[in-house]
Amino acid sequence: MPKRILSGVQSSGKLHLGNYFGAIKQHIELQNIPDTERFYFIADFHSLTTVQDPPRLRELINDAAVDYLALGLDPQKSVLFRQSDVPEVQELAWLLACVTGMGLLERAHSYKDKVAKGIEANVGLFYYPVLMAADILIYKSNLVPVGKDQIQHIEMTQDMAGYFNNRFKTKIFVRPEGKLSETPKVPGTDGEKMSKSYGNTIDLQANEKELKKVIMSIKTDSAPVEAQKDPDKDNIFALYSLMATAEERDALSQRYRAGGMGYGDAKKVLLEKTVAYFAEYREKRAKLIAKPDDVQDVLREGAKKARAVARQTLDEARQACGLA
Ligand code: ADP
Ligand code: TRP
Repeated sequence: MPKRILSGVQSSGKLHLGNYFGAIKQHIELQNIPDTERFYFIADFHSLTTVQDPPRLRELINDAAVDYLALGLDPQKSVLFRQSDVPEVQELAWLLACVTGMGLLERAHSYKDKVAKGIEANVGLFYYPVLMAADILIYKSNLVPVGKDQIQHIEMTQDMAGYFNNRFKTKIFVRPEGKLSETPKVPGTDGEKMSKSYGNTIDLQANEKELKKVIMSIKTDSAPVEAQKDPDKDNIFALYSLMATAEERDALSQRYRAGGMGYGDAKKVLLEKTVAYFAEYREKRAKLIAKPDDVQDVLREGAKKARAVARQTLDEARQACGLA
């Protein structure tokens, strides 16, 4: 059996450098691994926990699909679909919820962090890890490439798979493993984890003018121009390192350590690099936007394939717990 790789990205805001370097870049690179199948989806059910403006949600879903394709997702190699096109996942989430203790969900960091940041604590937000477990288990996924913030959710998924299998004496659910990228925690403009919910993102779609504005707003320490600086403690350098070659990285590192370079200059270097690194993506994106039907076709085809797999697992799970 080929190994199945699965991951999702929420359509809760414009995609940013954290999403790309933490998750999407490896989703695309994994397309070339032999003996694997890939399922990637836009987690629109999950987005509904925070985005409750219908035109905006529709726009963000479409945007995420366009972004995936523009960044190199190949529909011949990966199944791309909308989570809500596979309603079976909601039913499986319920079956998992019924064998999961409250304590497991009460320990979720992501829920606690979001509430601490002022996001409304609706039941959906609390239930989020159960739906995520259903997403992973319904496709019998072996490997889940994500950023660091999602690892706890994958551990919870392993627990839920075990609860169900043990309670109903079955082996339906496969234990999934998380897979981190080389840069599992990309910092935002304020130095905290870059996140749509924290307003500290550098968006992939931003044009040069917009990029300039956010990059110039990156927080730094107050060392004067002449001071020698430690690149490893600076956000601008961390972001530049994501896109630069090893030589470019060393060259900038030396300028930091030598002194005489202000953070303003480092920001200019980062701006140029970001514009160049995503130039091809922006071009592809413009072409895809001009062909909205093609993007919808990809999602529709993807949903058909995903739904066939999901239906089968759900039937097995219903049978196992006495509902069939
Ligand atoms: P956000 O936190 O902006 O809402 P999502 O939760 O939709 O982003 O994350 C989508 C994917 O991108 C996940 O795999 C997540 O781990 C990854 N990701 C998000 N932000 C970062 C970051 N700052 N660094 C690394 N990975 C990230
Ligand atoms: N919770 C993930 C995030 O915010 C998105 C997601 C939903 C997901 N279901 C998933 C990721 C299943 C991996 C597997 O990024």
